[in-house]
Amino acid sequence: MFRLLVLTLLLTTSVFAQDITTLEKIGDVVSLTKTDKSITLICNDNSQVQLTILAPDLVRVRASFTKPIPAKDHSWAIAKNDWSTPRWTVNESSTTIIITTDELEVTIQRSPLLISFRDARTHQLLNADERPMSYDANASLAGIMFDPKAGPFVAASKKLGFDEHFYGLGEKASRLDKRRSSFINWNSDTPGYIEGKDPIYQTIPFYIGLQRGIAYGIFFDNSYRSYFDFGKSSQQRAWFGAEGGEMNYYFFHGPWIKKILGRYADLTGHMPLPPLWALGNQQSRWSYYPDTMVEEVVNEYRKRDLPLDVVHLDIDYMHGYRVFTFDKDRFPDPKALTDKLARQGVKVVTIVDPGIKHPVDKNERYHAFDQGLEKNYFQRRRNGDLFVPRVWPGESVFVDYTLPEARRWWGELHRVYTDNGIAGIWNDMNEPSDFVDQTGKNQLDVVSYDEGEKSTHAKNRNTFALLMSRGTYEGLERLRPDRRPYVITRAAYAGIQRYATMWTGDTNSTWDALALNIPMFTSLGLSGEPFVGSDVGGFIGRGNGELLVRSYQVSFLAPFCRNHKVIDGYDQEPWRFGKYYEDIIRKYLKLRYSLMPYLYTALEEAHRTGVPPFRPLLLNYQDDPSTYNLDDQFMVGNDLLVAPIMKPDVTRRLVYLPSGSWYDYWTNKKYAGGTMISVDAPLDVVPMFVRAGAMIPIWPSLNYIGEKPVSTISFNIYPDDSGLASATLYEDDGLSPSYKTGVFRRTTFTARRGPGGITISMEWAEGSYIPGPRKFSFVAKTGERVNF
Ligand code: GLC
Repeated sequence: MFRLLVLTLLLTTSVFAQDITTLEKIGDVVSLTKTDKSITLICNDNSQVQLTILAPDLVRVRASFTKPIPAKDHSWAIAKNDWSTPRWTVNESSTTIIITTDELEVTIQRSPLLISFRDARTHQLLNADERPMSYDANASLAGIMFDPKAGPFVAASKKLGFDEHFYGLGEKASRLDKRRSSFINWNSDTPGYIEGKDPIYQTIPFYIGLQRGIAYGIFFDNSYRSYFDFGKSSQQRAWFGAEGGEMNYYFFHGPWIKKILGRYADLTGHMPLPPLWALGNQQSRWSYYPDTMVEEVVNEYRKRDLPLDVVHLDIDYMHGYRVFTFDKDRFPDPKALTDKLARQGVKVVTIVDPGIKHPVDKNERYHAFDQGLEKNYFQRRRNGDLFVPRVWPGESVFVDYTLPEARRWWGELHRVYTDNGIAGIWNDMNEPSDFVDQTGKNQLDVVSYDEGEKSTHAKNRNTFALLMSRGTYEGLERLRPDRRPYVITRAAYAGIQRYATMWTGDTNSTWDALALNIPMFTSLGLSGEPFVGSDVGGFIGRGNGELLVRSYQVSFLAPFCRNHKVIDGYDQEPWRFGKYYEDIIRKYLKLRYSLMPYLYTALEEAHRTGVPPFRPLLLNYQDDPSTYNLDDQFMVGNDLLVAPIMKPDVTRRLVYLPSGSWYDYWTNKKYAGGTMISVDAPLDVVPMFVRAGAMIPIWPSLNYIGEKPVSTISFNIYPDDSGLASATLYEDDGLSPSYKTGVFRRTTFTARRGPGGITISMEWAEGSYIPGPRKFSFVAKTGERVNF
């Protein structure tokens, strides 16, 4: 036992034992070649470094150790390759090479080879190499690598700023500011994870550094098991590396984080808009069956006047966990069910896992297995054997999603869902989880086609979910071209936002897990994933009324708002703990639907600009150091600030209000910002503030999207100190992809205080969408008269 413990300790500590100072450094620059887009540096050890200028604020750095840069250049994450090269110059001296764009100045010191990035206008240093890029020439790390043959380990090390903060890095069970922490990226099925558990489900190797209010971004586009250390193992460096593949990173210049997020979205893809009903309230359970129980859940929602748009079917809807089938006894007529629920305004989302059941009996016919086998679309081991992991159906097979024709076939299999009126698909277990061994060792020699490279698991694990979601999304697009696909995923790699929304997996029904919601949602938003949420109430364990209410008070403004529970967990639908709690939950669900035009406008902003709706305060107040590690409150868009309670028996808390003035949402009391205030927060109240200068659009009360035409949109006006307020309202049909071709309407409203009260002006709307007849009404929360 003791030996086992020691071994476990050794293993867990050794994972991060790479001492990058022992790695071989890249050689000095001896010459360079130049094209209109890039320069390539040739080093005295035959290494090459290529810097490509993609935009004035975006430069790619690619290094190849002791050999030329390979001609093959492919990444599943990248959405845009056709950059129009901005103007840039290169100046060589005997010691340096300096690339200058309108925004960036990149200095390469020849010996030793060190790269630094400065602001081209102010010459202020943004980021600098601490040591030359390096690699594991002697395979000394091979012993602790997932796949010793995958290497060499490659690393880049940056000087750690005395006051530098780090954000992003996707889904991590950690706080907002990642300074003094280190992380591994290796998509892993980690039920019941707690703060500090690492890695968990997703890999987004993109982070933002912020110092003195100035931000830069680094996207290390390498899908091998990767490492990020933000000043944990050393006072002087923040480094990143991977167990194979290329040193390949993109450097983004801000100084604004919002600008970096826009560029990152340009590079890895903008999130398409999901259907508007995806912003509705969702209910799930492992698992609701048979069909009559699903009806009961929906009836209960309607009877109790609780809003609901979506119900989820977890794995038990299938015939023996066979994806693309329905259990004939439990769901004899899925179309009749979805039709019936549609009449109550409810959509159905079904779970689809990657494991396709491997029939136990050779004579059993199962179309998904038979077709995939015949077409040779399943993953195989290097020796040609089918790879047979164990998942819910028992022995299973996985599709090789790197094959374009396999992705297409996978998409086509979804016809059984679309024909039966299923509205969206929930992709789970796609790390991919394998009950034989969750570390991936059982998959070590599994080969994927990978554009002809026939690469192994070490490279493909982290991109598996990205490609599975892509197959699902593109399939839904083909099957229902006039509808926006709605896909939810658990695992991911950078670029996932092009295909799927996400949730944070198997959380615990605990206060600690609830407290992780805000830093996790905001960090995901800072990593290019705007549509996020968590199982409301927590997934594992027994919750209670207070925890459930406080959980809704975090999630009622998160893009994904879904209550979900593990199979043996205590029921936690909104009414399960009694009327007292149910009434409070109703209040917040109704508030979510009232704020729908505000939420949807913020979501469209995310689609267009990459700036997420659910934000840490620092995104809106980047100049304010008081926001840099603030992760127990959040903002939605630019105007709403929410400070939930995330502890039991607590009914008062401190709230930080940034500069400007703020109105208490509930009382309209005005506060001066730039300070901390103490506010009451009894269980039925989540402290919530509106930025002075905002106008918040409000819908009439609805129990689901489309319940009745929205005949009036009311604007609540919160004038700033000079009597001004403004709002943008985004509208479209909420369902079709026509918004992509301009069929939307964006209207700007301004309120201005004058002698006779507040006067509203409306700017000419953008876009060609013609909404149904609706009235606008305006209410000043100061009690002033409004003229329109
Ligand atoms: C995984 C999912 C969870 C789901 C369960 C059964 O644990 O994360 O949400 O309920 O599988 O499908």
